Amino acid sequence: MTALPPRPDYANATRAELLEVVDQAHNAIEKINDWVERVKTAPNGIATVHHVDEKWAFLAMGSGLIRIPKPEFEVKSGQMVVCNSETMAIIEIAEIDATGETCTVQRLLDDKTVAVTGAGMPGERSVRKGSIAVEEADTVILDRTGSVIVAKVAKPHRAVKPAKRISFDGLGGMAETKAQLREAIEFPHTQPELFAFYGKEPPAGILLWGPPGCGKTMLGKAIATALADIYAKKGVIDDAALQSAFIYVKATELLDKFVGESEAKIRALFVRAKKHKMKFGFPAIIFIDEADAILGRRGDNNLNPLDKTIVPAFLTEMDGLEDKTATVVLATNRPDTLDPAIVRDGRIDIKIKVQRPDEAAFADIMALALNKCPLQKGLKAKTLAAKLAMNFFSPQHVLATTKRTGRAVDVPFSALASGAIAVGIIQAGIANALHRDLEAKTKTGACEDDFIRAIEASLASNAQLSNTDAINDWLAEQTATPKLMAAE
Ligand SMILES: Nc1ncnc2c1ncn2[C@@H]1O[C@H](COP(=O)(O)OP(=O)(O)OP(=O)(O)O)[C@@H](O)[C@H]1O
Ligand SMILES: [Mg+2]
Repeated sequence: MTALPPRPDYANATRAELLEVVDQAHNAIEKINDWVERVKTAPNGIATVHHVDEKWAFLAMGSGLIRIPKPEFEVKSGQMVVCNSETMAIIEIAEIDATGETCTVQRLLDDKTVAVTGAGMPGERSVRKGSIAVEEADTVILDRTGSVIVAKVAKPHRAVKPAKRISFDGLGGMAETKAQLREAIEFPHTQPELFAFYGKEPPAGILLWGPPGCGKTMLGKAIATALADIYAKKGVIDDAALQSAFIYVKATELLDKFVGESEAKIRALFVRAKKHKMKFGFPAIIFIDEADAILGRRGDNNLNPLDKTIVPAFLTEMDGLEDKTATVVLATNRPDTLDPAIVRDGRIDIKIKVQRPDEAAFADIMALALNKCPLQKGLKAKTLAAKLAMNFFSPQHVLATTKRTGRAVDVPFSALASGAIAVGIIQAGIANALHRDLEAKTKTGACEDDFIRAIEASLASNAQLSNTDAINDWLAEQTATPKLMAAE
C-alpha cells in the first residue's frame, strides 16, 4: 500500500516545506484512488464463442450457453474472448488456450457439427466445428466446456506407411503358418456363405509371435495383400484400396508425451479402418508391430503412467469393431509381456508362433532371394540354396558350448537361423561377387564360393553378439524333443 508523507511541524515549518508535504500527499492519494478503482471493477471472464448469428453471439461457459449481443468487432466460432463478468459483453479476443480435452473426429454430422470420441467420453459426442477445417480421424482439442473445437493437432503422418505387395508365395518355408493364416483370413471372404451358415466370422485379432527376423512383419503384409487380391478378383479394388487396406504402425510411433495423444492415435487407426471398409467394402488389416512397446501388462512398470490409459483405449477400440471393419494383427517377440486382457480369446483369437526356419525352410528362403541374383553360368538357385543351407546348418559350426545336467552340449549355429540371416547371407554373397568382378574387371555372376565366404562372415559376426535367448530357446526345444546330443 502507498505510504502517506509524515505530518509536518505546522508551527515551525517553512512555506516551501509545507508545499512539499502537500505535493507528496497528493501523489500518494492519486495512487490509492487508482488502486481503489481497479479493486471496484468486476473481474473479467474468459469464454469460447460457440457460434454467432446476425445479432447475437453464443458463448460456451460453465455447463451451458449464454446469449449476448454481438460486439462491434468480428468474432468467430471457436475463438476465445474476454467478457465482462456482470454484463458478459465481449471486451476483446483472448489468446487460444488449447488445454481442453483431446478427441478424435469420427464423423462430420453437418457443416457446423462433428461427432468426436475421447478418452473420458462414454461414447460419441457432437461438438461445434469452430472455424477450423477438420476431417474424419483428425485429432482435435476442445474448449474447456467440451463443446467447441478450438485447435487441431498435426496428423501422425509418420505412423502410417503405404503397403508394399508381398504375396504368401514370396515367403520361404513356414508352410503350416501360411496355411493357418490363409484359412483364418481368406476363407471368411472367399466362402462367406459357408461361414455364415456356421455363424463364423473373420477373426477380430491375430497374434504373431516369435524370434526376431523370422517373417512376422512380412506375414502381416502378405495378409493384407491376400485380402486385397480376393476383392480385386471380385472386381472391387485397385491399388488405392491395397494402400488403404494395410494400416501398418510400429507401436513406438504411437507413444506420445502429451496426455491423451497416444490414445487419440490408436483411435485414429480404427477410424481409418472404418473409412477403408466404407469406401472399399472389405476389412482393413491394422498391423501393430512390436506391440509389446505399448500393450504391455498393466502395472508392470509403475513409473510409466501410459499403460493405464493406452491398454484400456485399445481394448475399447477392439471391442467396438463392428461390422468387421478390421482384423487387428499384433506382432511381438515378447508375447509374455503383453497384457492378458489384450490376448484373451474373443479379442485375439488366433495366436501363431512364427518359428525359426529349419534347414529346408532356410534353403527355401535362400532360393527365393537367389532367384533375383545374377548367378554364374550353370548354377541353379534351388540346388545352390540347398547346399548353402546344409553348410549353415552343419553341426560343425558351433555357436556355444554349455553345460546341461552336468554334460557339455554344443549349441549349433543354426540355433540363430532366421529368414533375415538367410537373406542377409545372399546379399553379402552378391556384394562379394561384385567386389571380385570389380578387381578382376570381369562380369562373371555370383559363384558358390562368394556365398560360402558370406556364411563364414555371418558366423563370425554373430558369434560376437550375445545370443542368450536363441541358445536358451534351442536348449528348451532339445529337452522337449529327444534330440539332445552330448559333445564327446
Ligand atoms: N520366410 C521368409 N521368407 C523370405 N524372407 C524372409 C522370411 N523371413 C524373414 N525374411 C527376411 O527377413 C527380413 C526380416 O523379416 P521380418 O521383418 O518380417 O521379421 P520379423 O519377424 O518381423 O522381425 P522382428 O521381430 O525383428 O520385427 C525380411 O525383410 C526378409 O528379407
Ligand atoms: Mg517385425
